[in-house]
Amino acid sequence: MNHVENNKTRWQRLWQWLKKPLLLGIPIGVVLLFLGAGSFQGVMVLSNQNAFCFSCHLTMDTIVQEYQASSHYGDGIDIPATCADCHVPHPFLEKMKVKIVAIADIYHMMAGTVTKENFESLRPAMAEGVWEVMKANDSSTCRNCHQGDNFVLEQQPQRARLNHQQMASRGETCIDCHQGLTHNRIVEK
Ligand code: HEC
Ligand code: HEC
Ligand code: HEC
Ligand code: HEC
Repeated sequence: MNHVENNKTRWQRLWQWLKKPLLLGIPIGVVLLFLGAGSFQGVMVLSNQNAFCFSCHLTMDTIVQEYQASSHYGDGIDIPATCADCHVPHPFLEKMKVKIVAIADIYHMMAGTVTKENFESLRPAMAEGVWEVMKANDSSTCRNCHQGDNFVLEQQPQRARLNHQQMASRGETCIDCHQGLTHNRIVEK
């Protein structure tokens, strides 16, 4: 692999990106907000909206389309769970960790590392990354919603109840069983 050539095409792609002010507007705006202006909480709220996630993932891959066909998108008006509801954990530090990864994503997007063509080949590694986060935090984002009155074992169909009853004693967490719920199923290695 010729490194000089490689860098050149990367910068050319970045430049093509820079020539699309509309596409660039949203992420750049967010980066600027990150860097100074505006309140920090404001940035968190803004960057948690579906529209923000859609701004890259709608054209870059098929993630948004898969989400829109899933139960967590509901009818699109009354939306059970946004992208951020599942991917941005609540506790502050966890949140920052995800945001820092997100800044890396903005770099990848601008440098054109990810495209519809190569997304499927990068995908298993990304899925692994998400599973790792969810296993480590005991699927905390799922549990933000599916808990208490929203997760009553006695009210669940038998198959679900039997599986959920043994979860704690077996040291299992939601993502051990509910993979590929919102996105196409990726087979775990
Ligand atoms: C500026 C463009 C951009 C925006 C906005 C964006 N993403 Fe991404 N995202 C990417 C790119 C590019 C990748 C692939 C990067 C890589 O290879 O790690 C990615 C990867 C991911 C992954 C796979 C694991 C990872 O972090 O690498 C998840 C999950 C994800 N994005 C969720 C989100 C969510 C949720 C939002 C909205 C809060 C969002 N993204 C907004 C560009 C973006
Ligand atoms: C913001 C709240 C929220 C979050 C976060 C969330 N859910 Fe849900 N989930 C819901 C609601 C509301 C429904 C009922 C949707 C419907 O079917 O109308 C649901 C439905 C489900 C269902 C039954 C429908 C189906 O497609 O099988 C499963 C299973 C499920 N969620 C698992 C999960 C898992 C696993 C996670 C974490 C990766 C998660 N949920 C994250 C709110 C949430
Ligand atoms: C040991 C595997 C296992 C684990 C761990 C697990 N589930 Fe399930 N869950 C199932 C099965 C199996 C079903 C039934 C699905 C079916 O019949 O299609 C189910 C069904 C559900 C449903 C639908 C219930 C209904 O009323 O129809 C929800 C919501 C759900 N799980 C959420 C969760 C959440 C949240 C967690 C983590 C707290 C979790 N599950 C952990 C196996 C598991
Ligand atoms: C109900 C929870 C939930 C919602 C809503 C959700 N995701 Fe995911 N996402 C997951 C889980 C769980 C994984 C890990 C792979 C799997 O099991 O499907 C994942 C994986 C990913 C990946 C890695 C590639 C892959 O297919 O595994 C990307 C990128 C991603 N999500 C982005 C998004 C974006 C952008 C949105 C909104 C358009 C979104 N997700 C909505 C739960 C969710």
